[in-house]
Amino acid sequence: MSKRVLVTAALPYANGSVHLGHMLEFIQTDVYVRARKLAGEDCVFMWADDAHGSPIQVRARREGITPEALVARAYVEHRKDFDDFGIGYDVFHTTHSEENRRHAEAIFGEMLARGDITSRAVEQLYCPHDQMFLPDRFVKGTCPKCKSPDQYGDNCEVCSSTYAPTELGDPRCAVCGTTPVLRESLHLFVPLARHEVFLRQWLRAPADGGHTVMQDSVRNYVMRWVDEGLRDWDISRDDPYFGFSIPGHPGKYFYVWFDAPIGYIAATDKWCAEHGRDFDSYWKTTTSETEIVHVIGKDIVYFHCLFWPAMLHAAGYTTPSRVQVHGWLTVNGEKMSKTRGTFILGRTYLEHLSADYLRYYFAAKLGAAQDDIDLSMEDFANRVNAELVNKAANLASRCVKFVHQRLGARMSAPAADAEPLLAKARARLAEVPGLYREFESARALRLAIEIAEDFNLYVTEAAPWKLATSDPERARAVCSAAIEAGKIVAAILKPVLPVWAEKTERMLRLAAPLDFVNAGEPLPAGHEIGEYETLAEIGRASCRERVSSPV
Ligand code: MSP
Ligand code: ZN
Repeated sequence: MSKRVLVTAALPYANGSVHLGHMLEFIQTDVYVRARKLAGEDCVFMWADDAHGSPIQVRARREGITPEALVARAYVEHRKDFDDFGIGYDVFHTTHSEENRRHAEAIFGEMLARGDITSRAVEQLYCPHDQMFLPDRFVKGTCPKCKSPDQYGDNCEVCSSTYAPTELGDPRCAVCGTTPVLRESLHLFVPLARHEVFLRQWLRAPADGGHTVMQDSVRNYVMRWVDEGLRDWDISRDDPYFGFSIPGHPGKYFYVWFDAPIGYIAATDKWCAEHGRDFDSYWKTTTSETEIVHVIGKDIVYFHCLFWPAMLHAAGYTTPSRVQVHGWLTVNGEKMSKTRGTFILGRTYLEHLSADYLRYYFAAKLGAAQDDIDLSMEDFANRVNAELVNKAANLASRCVKFVHQRLGARMSAPAADAEPLLAKARARLAEVPGLYREFESARALRLAIEIAEDFNLYVTEAAPWKLATSDPERARAVCSAAIEAGKIVAAILKPVLPVWAEKTERMLRLAAPLDFVNAGEPLPAGHEIGEYETLAEIGRASCRERVSSPV
């Protein structure tokens, strides 16, 4: 097992607000990180905004502000959204930072020195009306591969292939609609084919945890790209461009996808400096020392599974141990759409519902496969109510309240007839860290709900409330067993619902924060508990809670 774990989510573009599709990924990443921390691992979540590139430049121009002002505004908004969704990142930096400039220049320098940068003149689309070379996002036209109309100049949103803007059919300037002309300009390239052997080996490598570096389905299509022949990757863009200028090449800037993933490194650098940690032990080491895990969506596989490992390998950095690709979020069975009212911003959701419910719903649907995830409003309400409220919260609510109010707040040894169920619950708990570690949060949560189901049934049959006066010790033993079960449930829920676990720790007066091990250790007979705190409620969906502190 690696000594250190570094996890990232994709860096959100600073040109807009985050929506629930983004949140699917960020919640998945957060749950994964919290679970590994809870299992006692040295795990950090390194994250940032992706501040460069032409869409940001276009948007700033349209709003009449500088790109710097635009990205500064997005940074504040993004952080507020992420904090309110309880995303426990260790650092949230930006790619428009001195750390990132330093690392981009260093990586470029290493690559240059090793012969991994070439240059040649290319014909590029130029808009005579706007008097500028048109970067990929400034050109729209027909995809050269699948012939879908209205695609941007860098990659097709329909078939995911990437290409040069000059390959588009019927190109138009995305700003003014003019048909662009061809003009020559000097560009810098990474000759990827030099790393074909490395890439094939990296793509197939079983990483140290025993798992493979990516899901089989992902590897299959990345391998197809490799088999089709690796093309040189153009990493430069002409002025005007919002990004870092390339040393030694006035008027040229690094393409946003060159310095965007370097943002993972820059964020680590900032965090290490602030926390007295050793940067090199993350990014200048081997995969047996440090496990690097990237969580991303399907649309950016090309960048993370070809360009990025090749860059890291070429420049002598730690290569990723795992790239975890999730599916696409649909709402009520369809792609999110502004016209259908199914395009939901993170902030809009937060204005109406508790972050915890979305965290639970996403985690309860996410597994390691890259299946698309549907947010059906009806299913959402049903699952939150049926599972979280009626099963998990109900178990704690009825027993904690009863013991606190009627039995002097004292627990006893669990009832003997509950021991087999408790043993089963502990066996389920033992599976949980491994499931979370494999991104199988749906299966982990299923176990929690099954425990709650078992014990709700047990308590209903044993009916302790009928025994408060006739046989209080039996009532106490039954409730104590159920409270033990509720404690295990809370530990399983903890990476998803940290506030739930905190409340459980408080109301059960636990000596130490819950984890996957101590949750299975019974409280001593005579242990005194506190008052019940509401864990989840029907009809109080609009009550908002903030996670007080990241794990
Ligand atoms: N800035 C790049 C990533 C750079 S990483 C070095 C980017 N940003 S993004 O804001 O467009 O997307 C961030 C993440 O959200 C990506 O992994 C993307 O796949 C994911 N998603 C965006 N829309 C989504 C859905 N509808 N569903 C699921 N994930 C979605 O790409
Ligand atoms: Zn134009």
